[in-house]
Amino acid sequence: MLHDKLTPKTALAASTQSQTSSAETLSPEALSPEALSPEALSPEALSPEVMNSSDPYYSMDLLRFTTAGSVDDGKSTLIGRLLYDSKAIFEDQMEAMERASRNRGDTYVDLALLTDGLRAEREQGITIDVAYRYFATPKRKFIIADTPGHIQYTRNMVTGASTAELAIILIDARKGVVTQSKRHGFIASLLEIPHILVAVNKMDLVDYDEEVYRRIVTEYSEFATKLSIQDLTFIPISALQGDNVVNKSDKTSWYDGPTLLHHLENVNVGASRNLVDFRFPVQMVVRPHQDFRGFAGQIASGTISPGEEIVVLPSGTASRVRAVHAFTEEVQEAVEGDSVMITLEDEIDVSRGDMIVRKNNLPQVSNQLECTICWVTEEPLNLQSTYILQHNSHQVRAFVADLNYRIDVNTLHRESAHTLQLNEIGRVKITTTQPLFFDPYRLNRNTGSFILIDSYTNVTVAAGMIRRRASTLEEVISTQPDRQKSANVVWESTEISREMRESRNGHRAAVLWFTGLSGSGKSTVARRLERRLFEHGCQTTYLDGDNVRHGLNGDLGFSPADRKENIRRVAEVARLAFDHGTLTICTFISPYRADRESARALLPEGRFIEVYVKCDLEVVKRRDPKGLYAKALAGEIPEFTGISSPYEEPTDPEILVETDVQSVDDIVEQIMDELTRRGLLNYQ
Ligand code: ADX
Repeated sequence: MLHDKLTPKTALAASTQSQTSSAETLSPEALSPEALSPEALSPEALSPEVMNSSDPYYSMDLLRFTTAGSVDDGKSTLIGRLLYDSKAIFEDQMEAMERASRNRGDTYVDLALLTDGLRAEREQGITIDVAYRYFATPKRKFIIADTPGHIQYTRNMVTGASTAELAIILIDARKGVVTQSKRHGFIASLLEIPHILVAVNKMDLVDYDEEVYRRIVTEYSEFATKLSIQDLTFIPISALQGDNVVNKSDKTSWYDGPTLLHHLENVNVGASRNLVDFRFPVQMVVRPHQDFRGFAGQIASGTISPGEEIVVLPSGTASRVRAVHAFTEEVQEAVEGDSVMITLEDEIDVSRGDMIVRKNNLPQVSNQLECTICWVTEEPLNLQSTYILQHNSHQVRAFVADLNYRIDVNTLHRESAHTLQLNEIGRVKITTTQPLFFDPYRLNRNTGSFILIDSYTNVTVAAGMIRRRASTLEEVISTQPDRQKSANVVWESTEISREMRESRNGHRAAVLWFTGLSGSGKSTVARRLERRLFEHGCQTTYLDGDNVRHGLNGDLGFSPADRKENIRRVAEVARLAFDHGTLTICTFISPYRADRESARALLPEGRFIEVYVKCDLEVVKRRDPKGLYAKALAGEIPEFTGISSPYEEPTDPEILVETDVQSVDDIVEQIMDELTRRGLLNYQ
């Protein structure tokens, strides 16, 4: 297996190897043609130092693991201990370490110095970046992504852990399970890291007390039941004293499990690899002369052999594999993780960014994706922006179409959000301008992951995992039981998506649903708001209660059934306008909560904004702009809302305005601000 230098994921990870803690990460240059030159693809370039083909351990299997813990939990010491006791460090490093420890007056060798090396941890007391270390024992090779535990650095855990097959979560025995420990477990499970090893460290400081260890095991196991973790193991250790790290401790006679290194050497890693679905994102077309055309890249998953039938996506052209080259030799089989060059039987057009797959095992295809993303940069998510989505070697333009919710990593609760800040994790719907060929992350960590790049600054802004193809709005609402449809009709989609319209309009589409008593001021506010939106360059549609009852709904009266039908029709019209990218203002008394909720159900989350225009009944009676209250009170209008027909107040409207207290201008400002806060509008 070769080093996977060429995927966005590892490029992202590699970009964090620098000594700085700044947020600049992957630039597309990292994957430029130069970075993929024949030199860059040579065996030497593809293999990390300690793993070139002359290495005696070259053919051994490999475990990538990551470490996470809070500040001072002893990550660096643990890694130092692993390297030191397994004799994986050089004599001169050892001497330097001993010297440094002596100079500082320590009575023991500070193993943390080994990993902390030049890093800023020494000044700040925290590890701030991901660093990669390689070591090997006679049984296995290891790559450690050393991720920090400081609360700010979820980003690093995501980038460092994305290729890991095992995560070590360190818990300080004295402190027990803390928020951070849970956070790390959650992220590890989100990244589908198959094995989690909880190292209960500093056992020496609790006198190797079994009780303390058991309590932590019980508490953490209980928490872990809420996560999807395949394999959870606990080991009591002291990294400082060397207990149960490489050598078994004689101070924990009550523990009969393996040492940490033994576990690392023996944990079954093959199981998490996908050797079934062949996916080969083409990173470079190699054409040294007219008669030769090879396609180079890294096998994202599956296996391939000469003679197999393939198709190239997106063109769908079929061919057969002529030969598979790994380095300079032809091989009979190549597997996930191998960097190879493939030649085909036929002269077909294949470009960088295409994907070669097996004919009868195709990935999914969609330009609407449901994803979990982790925001990794200071500049927060802007729902108005378009980003570049890099998926394997393929780049497309993308919008974050919906932010469904943010996950509080400490409590695992979902919370509504309008943006994501650095290190926050959210569930989103992403729309891309061209369809992607992908697999759900759960099935394939390579073709199921991507990064988002700011198209102006080239900074990587998010790391993402594809959950599934997102359902279209039409699919969602057509499952609603009471939505009627004529016989023999199908939904015709236009060629211009809502997202394309939104992108051109420079704002999101939404339905602003004004509800309130007759005379409460719905239309007055709505008219002023529409004018403001128009001046701001927005596309608007306005549906007013009195107006729609001319013509379209002229057949309806004011019985509960007629009002329900009134709202049903209007909500359907509003939805069509919404699909056309407009801010659709609706002003209807809509006195029944259930009717308003049916209207809400026709729209994606976050796009139905209920505006409750509140006004005291006595005030509207006094205002009585159309003279209807007087008539109703005189018994001339039956079923008049507020007099002889009920009004059910919204319980939790998105926006509440009070026309008997606030001025119209204030209300309009309030709504403009709220639309901006919700990422629907760029205002101010
Ligand atoms: S809704 O209840 O079905 O939502 P809608 O907003 O369309 O009502 O229409 C309300 C308008 O119809 C009021 O502003 C008023 O001008 C007029 N109207 C006539 N009769 C009634 C009535 N019985 N109740 C309320 N509004 C009425």
